[in-house]
Amino acid sequence: MTKTAVVIGVGPIEGLGGYLCTQAADEGLHVVIAGRTLQSINTVAEAIRSNGGEATAVMADATDESQIKQLVSEAEAIGPIDLAIYNAGNNFPGRFLEMQASYFETAWRVCTMGGFLFSREVIKVMNERKSGTLLFTGASASMRGKPNFAAFTAGKAGLRAMAQSLAREFQPLGIHVGHLVIDGGIAGEKIISNYPEFVERAGEDGLVGLKGIAEAYIYLYKQPRNAWTHELDLRTFKENF
Ligand SMILES: NC(=O)c1ccc[n+]([C@@H]2O[C@H](COP(=O)([O-])OP(=O)(O)OC[C@H]3O[C@@H](n4cnc5c(N)ncnc54)[C@H](OP(=O)(O)O)[C@@H]3O)[C@@H](O)[C@H]2O)c1
Repeated sequence: MTKTAVVIGVGPIEGLGGYLCTQAADEGLHVVIAGRTLQSINTVAEAIRSNGGEATAVMADATDESQIKQLVSEAEAIGPIDLAIYNAGNNFPGRFLEMQASYFETAWRVCTMGGFLFSREVIKVMNERKSGTLLFTGASASMRGKPNFAAFTAGKAGLRAMAQSLAREFQPLGIHVGHLVIDGGIAGEKIISNYPEFVERAGEDGLVGLKGIAEAYIYLYKQPRNAWTHELDLRTFKENF
Protein backbone atom coordinates (compact mmCIF):
# COMPACT_ATOMS: atom_id res chain seq x y z
CA MET A 1 0.00 0.00 0.00
CA THR A 2 1.30 3.47 -0.90
CA LYS A 3 2.36 5.52 2.08
CA THR A 4 0.89 8.97 2.48
CA ALA A 5 2.20 12.42 3.29
CA VAL A 6 -0.21 14.93 4.80
CA VAL A 7 0.59 18.61 4.44
CA ILE A 8 -1.68 21.10 6.18
CA GLY A 9 -1.40 24.77 5.27
CA VAL A 10 -1.26 24.67 1.50
CA GLY A 11 -1.96 27.78 -0.56
CA PRO A 12 -0.47 28.77 -3.93
CA ILE A 13 1.47 26.18 -5.92
CA GLU A 14 4.50 28.48 -5.91
CA GLY A 15 4.36 28.71 -2.13
CA LEU A 16 6.02 26.65 0.58
CA GLY A 17 3.01 24.39 1.24
CA GLY A 18 2.54 23.75 -2.49
CA TYR A 19 6.22 23.05 -2.96
CA LEU A 20 6.38 20.64 -0.01
CA CYS A 21 3.51 18.70 -1.58
CA THR A 22 5.24 18.32 -4.95
CA GLN A 23 8.51 17.27 -3.29
CA ALA A 24 6.72 14.68 -1.15
CA ALA A 25 5.02 13.31 -4.29
CA ASP A 26 8.45 13.02 -5.94
CA GLU A 27 9.41 10.72 -3.06
CA GLY A 28 6.63 8.34 -4.15
CA LEU A 29 4.21 9.30 -1.40
CA HIS A 30 0.49 9.81 -2.01
CA VAL A 31 0.14 13.41 -0.90
CA VAL A 32 -2.93 14.56 1.00
CA ILE A 33 -3.07 18.30 0.46
CA ALA A 34 -4.97 20.26 3.08
CA GLY A 35 -5.95 23.91 3.18
CA ARG A 36 -8.94 26.19 3.35
CA THR A 37 -9.18 27.21 -0.32
CA LEU A 38 -10.40 24.46 -2.63
CA GLN A 39 -9.08 26.06 -5.79
CA SER A 40 -5.53 26.31 -4.40
CA ILE A 41 -5.32 22.76 -3.11
CA ASN A 42 -6.93 21.38 -6.29
CA THR A 43 -4.34 23.20 -8.39
CA VAL A 44 -1.52 21.57 -6.42
CA ALA A 45 -3.18 18.14 -6.64
CA GLU A 46 -3.67 18.44 -10.41
CA ALA A 47 -0.04 19.50 -10.92
CA ILE A 48 1.15 16.42 -9.00
CA ARG A 49 -1.14 14.08 -10.93
CA SER A 50 -0.16 15.53 -14.29
CA ASN A 51 3.44 14.80 -13.33
CA GLY A 52 2.59 11.13 -12.65
CA GLY A 53 2.26 11.43 -8.88
CA GLU A 54 -0.61 10.67 -6.53
CA ALA A 55 -2.49 13.36 -4.65
CA THR A 56 -5.79 14.04 -2.92
CA ALA A 57 -7.01 17.50 -1.95
CA VAL A 58 -8.94 17.78 1.32
CA MET A 59 -10.47 20.98 2.65
CA ALA A 60 -9.46 21.47 6.28
CA ASP A 61 -8.96 24.34 8.66
CA ALA A 62 -6.05 23.61 10.99
CA THR A 63 -7.88 25.17 13.92
CA ASP A 64 -10.98 22.97 13.58
CA GLU A 65 -10.69 19.81 15.67
CA SER A 66 -13.31 17.76 13.81
CA GLN A 67 -11.88 18.70 10.40
CA ILE A 68 -8.39 17.65 11.51
CA LYS A 69 -9.69 14.31 12.79
CA GLN A 70 -11.46 13.80 9.47
CA LEU A 71 -8.33 14.77 7.50
CA VAL A 72 -6.14 12.27 9.34
CA SER A 73 -8.66 9.49 9.00
CA GLU A 74 -9.10 10.18 5.25
CA ALA A 75 -5.34 10.08 4.78
CA GLU A 76 -5.01 6.84 6.73
CA ALA A 77 -7.75 5.29 4.59
CA ILE A 78 -5.59 5.99 1.52
CA GLY A 79 -2.41 4.65 3.12
CA PRO A 80 -0.36 4.85 6.31
CA ILE A 81 0.81 8.39 7.06
CA ASP A 82 4.59 8.32 6.89
CA LEU A 83 5.19 12.07 6.67
CA ALA A 84 3.09 14.83 8.23
CA ILE A 85 3.86 18.53 7.90
CA TYR A 86 2.27 21.37 9.85
CA ASN A 87 2.84 24.39 7.61
CA ALA A 88 -0.11 26.66 8.53
CA GLY A 89 1.06 29.85 10.14
CA ASN A 90 0.85 32.82 7.82
CA ASN A 91 2.17 35.98 9.42
CA PHE A 92 0.47 38.06 12.10
CA PRO A 93 2.13 41.47 12.37
CA GLY A 94 0.43 44.17 14.42
CA ARG A 95 1.03 47.19 16.61
CA PHE A 96 0.90 45.93 20.17
CA LEU A 97 -0.98 48.76 21.88
CA GLU A 98 -3.74 48.70 19.28
CA MET A 99 -3.95 44.91 19.05
CA GLN A 100 -7.33 43.31 19.71
CA ALA A 101 -7.40 40.26 21.97
CA SER A 102 -9.23 38.38 19.21
CA TYR A 103 -6.31 39.00 16.80
CA PHE A 104 -3.78 37.67 19.31
CA GLU A 105 -6.00 34.65 19.91
CA THR A 106 -6.36 33.95 16.17
CA ALA A 107 -2.57 34.01 15.75
CA TRP A 108 -2.23 31.50 18.58
CA ARG A 109 -5.00 29.30 17.18
CA VAL A 110 -3.37 29.06 13.74
CA CYS A 111 0.30 28.99 14.80
CA THR A 112 0.09 26.89 17.96
CA MET A 113 -3.23 25.22 18.72
CA GLY A 114 -3.62 23.93 15.16
CA GLY A 115 -0.18 22.35 15.55
CA PHE A 116 -1.40 20.62 18.69
CA LEU A 117 -4.61 19.30 17.07
CA PHE A 118 -2.76 18.04 13.99
CA SER A 119 0.12 16.46 15.95
CA ARG A 120 -2.16 14.67 18.38
CA GLU A 121 -4.14 12.99 15.61
CA VAL A 122 -1.07 12.17 13.51
CA ILE A 123 0.95 10.81 16.43
CA LYS A 124 -1.97 8.57 17.46
CA VAL A 125 -1.74 6.69 14.16
CA MET A 126 2.06 6.84 13.84
CA ASN A 127 2.38 5.49 17.36
CA GLU A 128 0.50 2.33 16.39
CA ARG A 129 3.27 1.62 13.86
CA LYS A 130 6.11 3.16 15.92
CA SER A 131 7.26 5.04 12.82
CA GLY A 132 6.70 8.22 10.84
CA THR A 133 8.03 11.76 10.53
CA LEU A 134 6.27 14.87 11.82
CA LEU A 135 7.66 18.25 10.76
CA PHE A 136 6.74 21.82 11.70
CA THR A 137 7.37 25.04 9.79
CA GLY A 138 8.87 27.75 11.94
CA ALA A 139 9.94 31.32 11.19
CA SER A 140 12.38 33.92 12.53
CA ALA A 141 9.66 34.62 15.11
CA SER A 142 10.06 31.08 16.49
CA MET A 143 13.45 32.16 17.87
CA ARG A 144 13.13 35.85 18.72
CA GLY A 145 10.50 38.52 19.21
CA LYS A 146 10.79 41.71 17.22
CA PRO A 147 8.74 44.94 17.47
CA ASN A 148 5.23 44.56 16.03
CA PHE A 149 5.40 40.76 16.06
CA ALA A 150 4.30 39.94 19.62
CA ALA A 151 1.31 37.83 18.54
CA PHE A 152 3.17 35.93 15.81
CA THR A 153 6.21 35.34 18.04
CA ALA A 154 4.09 34.01 20.89
CA GLY A 155 2.39 31.59 18.50
CA LYS A 156 5.49 30.42 16.66
CA ALA A 157 7.66 30.11 19.79
CA GLY A 158 4.87 28.07 21.37
CA LEU A 159 4.82 25.75 18.36
CA ARG A 160 8.59 25.31 18.54
CA ALA A 161 8.47 24.54 22.26
CA MET A 162 5.71 22.01 21.67
CA ALA A 163 7.74 20.35 18.90
CA GLN A 164 10.65 19.92 21.35
CA SER A 165 8.32 18.38 23.88
CA LEU A 166 6.92 15.97 21.27
CA ALA A 167 10.41 15.01 20.09
CA ARG A 168 11.47 14.11 23.62
CA GLU A 169 8.29 12.14 24.26
CA PHE A 170 7.81 10.32 20.96
CA GLN A 171 11.22 9.91 19.34
CA PRO A 172 12.04 7.08 21.77
CA LEU A 173 8.86 5.41 20.44
CA GLY A 174 10.08 5.67 16.82
CA ILE A 175 8.47 8.92 15.61
CA HIS A 176 10.85 11.53 14.19
CA VAL A 177 9.79 15.07 15.12
CA GLY A 178 11.48 18.00 13.39
CA HIS A 179 11.17 21.79 13.41
CA LEU A 180 12.46 23.97 10.57
CA VAL A 181 13.19 27.63 11.18
CA ILE A 182 12.80 29.64 7.98
CA ASP A 183 14.75 32.75 8.93
CA GLY A 184 13.69 35.33 6.37
CA GLY A 185 11.21 36.00 3.61
CA ILE A 186 10.43 33.04 1.37
CA ALA A 187 10.75 33.37 -2.41
CA GLY A 188 7.15 32.27 -2.90
CA GLU A 189 4.15 33.73 -4.64
CA LYS A 190 2.91 35.60 -1.54
CA ILE A 191 5.95 37.80 -1.11
CA ILE A 192 6.77 38.08 -4.79
CA SER A 193 3.23 39.22 -5.71
CA ASN A 194 2.39 41.30 -2.64
CA TYR A 195 5.67 42.90 -1.56
CA PRO A 196 7.61 43.95 -4.68
CA GLU A 197 9.61 46.61 -2.79
CA PHE A 198 10.68 44.02 -0.23
CA VAL A 199 11.79 41.71 -3.05
CA GLU A 200 13.65 44.57 -4.69
CA ARG A 201 15.42 45.47 -1.44
CA ALA A 202 16.33 41.83 -0.80
CA GLY A 203 18.14 41.69 -4.14
CA GLU A 204 19.55 38.61 -5.86
CA ASP A 205 19.11 35.46 -3.75
CA GLY A 206 17.85 37.64 -0.91
CA LEU A 207 14.78 35.48 -0.23
CA VAL A 208 14.92 31.91 1.04
CA GLY A 209 14.43 29.59 -1.94
CA LEU A 210 11.54 27.13 -2.09
CA LYS A 211 13.67 24.34 -3.55
CA GLY A 212 16.29 24.56 -0.81
CA ILE A 213 13.64 24.63 1.91
CA ALA A 214 11.70 21.68 0.51
CA GLU A 215 14.91 19.66 0.16
CA ALA A 216 15.60 20.26 3.86
CA TYR A 217 12.22 18.75 4.80
CA ILE A 218 12.90 15.71 2.64
CA TYR A 219 16.40 15.41 4.12
CA LEU A 220 14.89 15.16 7.61
CA TYR A 221 12.25 12.73 6.36
CA LYS A 222 14.87 10.39 4.90
CA GLN A 223 17.26 10.36 7.86
CA PRO A 224 17.90 6.96 9.42
CA ARG A 225 16.67 6.70 13.00
CA ASN A 226 20.19 6.43 14.37
CA ALA A 227 20.98 9.93 13.04
CA TRP A 228 17.96 12.18 13.49
CA THR A 229 18.03 15.98 13.42
CA HIS A 230 15.40 17.78 15.48
CA GLU A 231 15.88 21.33 14.20
CA LEU A 232 17.26 22.95 11.08
CA ASP A 233 17.49 26.66 10.35
CA LEU A 234 17.58 28.07 6.84
CA ARG A 235 18.44 31.58 5.73
CA THR A 236 20.01 33.26 2.73
CA PHE A 237 23.75 33.89 2.60
CA LYS A 238 23.15 37.59 3.18
CA GLU A 239 20.77 37.37 6.15
CA ASN A 240 21.93 39.30 9.22
CA PHE A 241 21.26 37.07 12.22
N1 LIG B 1 6.13 33.68 3.64
C1 LIG B 1 7.27 33.89 4.29
O1 LIG B 1 8.09 34.73 3.92
C2 LIG B 1 7.59 33.05 5.51
C3 LIG B 1 8.82 33.24 6.15
C4 LIG B 1 9.16 32.43 7.22
C5 LIG B 1 8.27 31.43 7.64
N2 LIG B 1 7.07 31.28 6.99
C6 LIG B 1 6.17 30.23 7.45
O2 LIG B 1 5.97 29.34 6.37
C7 LIG B 1 4.66 28.78 6.43
C8 LIG B 1 3.92 28.99 5.13
O3 LIG B 1 4.09 30.28 4.70
P1 LIG B 1 3.09 31.15 3.84
O4 LIG B 1 1.74 31.21 4.50
O5 LIG B 1 3.74 32.43 3.58
O6 LIG B 1 2.98 30.39 2.46
P2 LIG B 1 2.33 29.07 1.85
O7 LIG B 1 3.05 27.88 2.37
O8 LIG B 1 2.35 29.29 0.39
O9 LIG B 1 0.82 29.03 2.29
C9 LIG B 1 0.33 28.45 3.44
C10 LIG B 1 -1.16 28.41 3.33
O10 LIG B 1 -1.69 27.88 4.53
C11 LIG B 1 -3.08 28.16 4.50
N3 LIG B 1 -3.58 28.32 5.85
C12 LIG B 1 -3.48 29.41 6.63
N4 LIG B 1 -4.14 29.23 7.78
C13 LIG B 1 -4.67 27.99 7.69
C14 LIG B 1 -5.50 27.23 8.54
N5 LIG B 1 -5.96 27.71 9.70
N6 LIG B 1 -5.86 25.99 8.15
C15 LIG B 1 -5.45 25.50 6.97
N7 LIG B 1 -4.69 26.18 6.11
C16 LIG B 1 -4.31 27.42 6.47
C17 LIG B 1 -3.25 29.46 3.69
O11 LIG B 1 -4.07 29.23 2.57
P3 LIG B 1 -5.65 29.54 2.66
O12 LIG B 1 -5.76 30.93 3.23
O13 LIG B 1 -6.06 29.42 1.24
O14 LIG B 1 -6.20 28.49 3.54
C18 LIG B 1 -1.85 29.74 3.21
O15 LIG B 1 -1.84 30.20 1.89
C19 LIG B 1 3.98 29.44 7.62
O16 LIG B 1 4.07 28.58 8.72
C20 LIG B 1 4.78 30.70 7.83
O17 LIG B 1 4.72 31.17 9.15
C21 LIG B 1 6.71 32.07 5.95
